Amino acid sequence: MQTYRLAIIGFGNVGQGFTQILRDEGADLAQQSGVRFQIVAVSDLLKGSVHDPKGIDPAALLDSIAATTRLDRVTAPDRAWNALETIERSRADIVIELSYTDLKTGEPAITHLRRALELGRHVVTTNKGPIALKYPELKALAEKHGVEIGAEGTVMSGTPSLRLAQELLSAARIRKIQGIVNGTTNYILAQMEAGVPYADALQDAQVKGYAEADPTGDVEGFDAAGKVVIMANLLMGQALTLADVDRQGITQLTPADMAEAKAAGERWKLIGRVETIGEQLTASVKPTRLPSSHPLASVSGATNAITFSTDLLGDVTLVGPGAGRIETGYAIVGDLLAIHRKRKK
Ligand code: HSE
Repeated sequence: MQTYRLAIIGFGNVGQGFTQILRDEGADLAQQSGVRFQIVAVSDLLKGSVHDPKGIDPAALLDSIAATTRLDRVTAPDRAWNALETIERSRADIVIELSYTDLKTGEPAITHLRRALELGRHVVTTNKGPIALKYPELKALAEKHGVEIGAEGTVMSGTPSLRLAQELLSAARIRKIQGIVNGTTNYILAQMEAGVPYADALQDAQVKGYAEADPTGDVEGFDAAGKVVIMANLLMGQALTLADVDRQGITQLTPADMAEAKAAGERWKLIGRVETIGEQLTASVKPTRLPSSHPLASVSGATNAITFSTDLLGDVTLVGPGAGRIETGYAIVGDLLAIHRKRKK
């Protein structure tokens, strides 16, 4: 059976969610797809670092985190490698980059991805920073070294939005993309509608693993703007930057605003949108009041929804999870299987 060795950089919610899937579903996955994914290294800035060329049991990683919040209890011959050493020395086939998202600099993830690609490793990431800021450069580097980049989890977590659009909708010509692309804010808005104070709702979203390490990125609309940029550049052939997105978050919405919308039979939603009309392109993230009858109005909690408006097919709407440990961990599984399918050809 074909085995891919994996090095994981960053072991927060997403890395742990992915490892949980491998622990619980790895055997089924192997049986179904004829491929085995073996973790050989994990490196996390705070939780520690382990490398074992013979493979590390996913359960041992998760048990150690559960017991100590660190990787100290995992038995491994090498345990002091930083992220770059792990990429350079682990001889993994695929580097899974899950360090924290920084939408301003994209670092340290860009450096990690560049190095992995230069060494001829495939990369999979759910990190929006490098994909929003440097995708063309990283893609060119991947092509030069004959390897793949998987970034499905950067938009709508494990719901296959990028792959659906890239592989199945591109020939229909996508003219407009709009939707709810941030789970944290959508969750907070629904909670506020139910009378929960903003701060409590935000804390809840953090506990549930929806929010970014720094939730300002979510509530100020940067996360959604990053996703708008990713979709415009990967799916519509644009070269947008974050500065091109007219962005507003949800922090100014008050309980009174919520009540007013409710009384009018409407709901507040944070809507991300990118649209081309002729040569003109507009991109925005804005809190928007939608009538309850609008298809996006009923999308609640951490669920996301995206409508792709195309020339040949009209509107295609995808609704599904937009955040969460297992949900985003699943995006990695999808990317790994896609790499395997491509390599098999
Ligand atoms: N913080 C993000 C969200 C995670 O709430 O949607 C998924 O990208």
